[in-house]
Amino acid sequence: MSQSDSSVPASAAAAVLVKSDPVPKDAVSVRGPDFDSPLDLQELLASYKRIGFQASSLGNAIDIVNKMRTWRLSDEPIPDDESDAYRDPAIRAQIKANVFLGYTSNLISSGLRESIRHLVKHRHVAAVVTTAGGIEEDFIKCLQPTYLGDFSLDGAALRKKGMNRIGNLLVPNENYCQFEDWVMPILDKMLEEQKETGEVWSPSKVIRRLGKEINHEDSVYYWAYKNDIPVFCPALTDGSLGDMIYFHSFRNPGLIIDIVGDIRSLNDLARTSKKAGMIILGGGVCKHQIANAMLIRNGADFSVYINTGQEFDGSDSGARPDEAVSWGKIRAGSESVKVFAEATLVFPLLIAATYGRAHWEALEKKAQEKAE
Ligand SMILES: NC(=O)c1ccc[n+]([C@@H]2O[C@H](COP(=O)([O-])OP(=O)(O)OC[C@H]3O[C@@H](n4cnc5c(N)ncnc54)[C@H](O)[C@@H]3O)[C@@H](O)[C@H]2O)c1
Repeated sequence: MSQSDSSVPASAAAAVLVKSDPVPKDAVSVRGPDFDSPLDLQELLASYKRIGFQASSLGNAIDIVNKMRTWRLSDEPIPDDESDAYRDPAIRAQIKANVFLGYTSNLISSGLRESIRHLVKHRHVAAVVTTAGGIEEDFIKCLQPTYLGDFSLDGAALRKKGMNRIGNLLVPNENYCQFEDWVMPILDKMLEEQKETGEVWSPSKVIRRLGKEINHEDSVYYWAYKNDIPVFCPALTDGSLGDMIYFHSFRNPGLIIDIVGDIRSLNDLARTSKKAGMIILGGGVCKHQIANAMLIRNGADFSVYINTGQEFDGSDSGARPDEAVSWGKIRAGSESVKVFAEATLVFPLLIAATYGRAHWEALEKKAQEKAE
């Protein structure tokens, strides 16, 4: 049908068939993966960007994480006021962006713990921020497993059986009893050392010490300790660890855990980062504590949020990156994306297309060199 067809009212045709401007040359057409021919994992993930909706946001997140992963100071021109320490091209080629990784407690309870551990074990992150459950559940999993359950299991029946539910995961009470047996003597030793040296503990020092004591390669915080990666948890007492610290304060009082030292370390790390990236899974304290640290450096350079939060309630959890730009927590014009998704669905895919892919390629290269 053409607009000049005499049987069609001209005003209706003009209203419905408004003439398009020419499509910009760089416009990307929508297209999904074609399953007629075999696709490997990387090809499938590369197809996400053109699918649309949150698949495209994941595609953008993959691009941004790859940029923060591969950025080096040598990519930037040397500014006139650069200090002598950073003028040598060889040194500049070694300086990476500092990646600040945040996640909610439930994600350590879930199988995302292993993706997180990969990043910490291979030193891909400069600092971690999480909440109390995100600390203790990692250690508890070294003592006893967490099990798959069901969202619909009855709470009262579970209580009778001494089973605790986290979404569709189950943790027996026995796990927390074993955690108590493991952690109490460590708290005793920490108090003894505090009395001997006069040095008070901070949440990050406590986590580092627990990571050393667990001495278990499954643990995220064992690797954080080994690799000297600070783990911040401003509300360390809001979980089973808090229960233990409460009981300990009756049995053997005097332990001091001071949060001032940690805010100094976290903000200083952000401030002195040549480039800083945020990867934040979920909302609440882990999201805002990292974003707030970015304010000190006038904003993050790369930002990836993955969460289910919505912004209509004004929550920080649901706030999109643009809200953080208004506060100076993300630099205006820098690359950022929010993937509106449940993190367990998305994060393994994001790692597979970024750090995981680079890791496998390096392993392959090594194997090839060995074979030659
Ligand atoms: N396993 C546990 O969840 C657990 C265990 C012990 C203590 N706690 C305590 O509960 C308090 C609240 O927990 P929190 O601050 O870690 O976060 P939270 O569970 O309250 O989540 C905060 C927000 O993050 C987003 N979110 C959470 N899970 C997500 C997911 N799977 N995918 C995408 N987005 C997600 C949602 O928008 C949510 O409102 C903390 O102080 C924590 O220590 C939690």
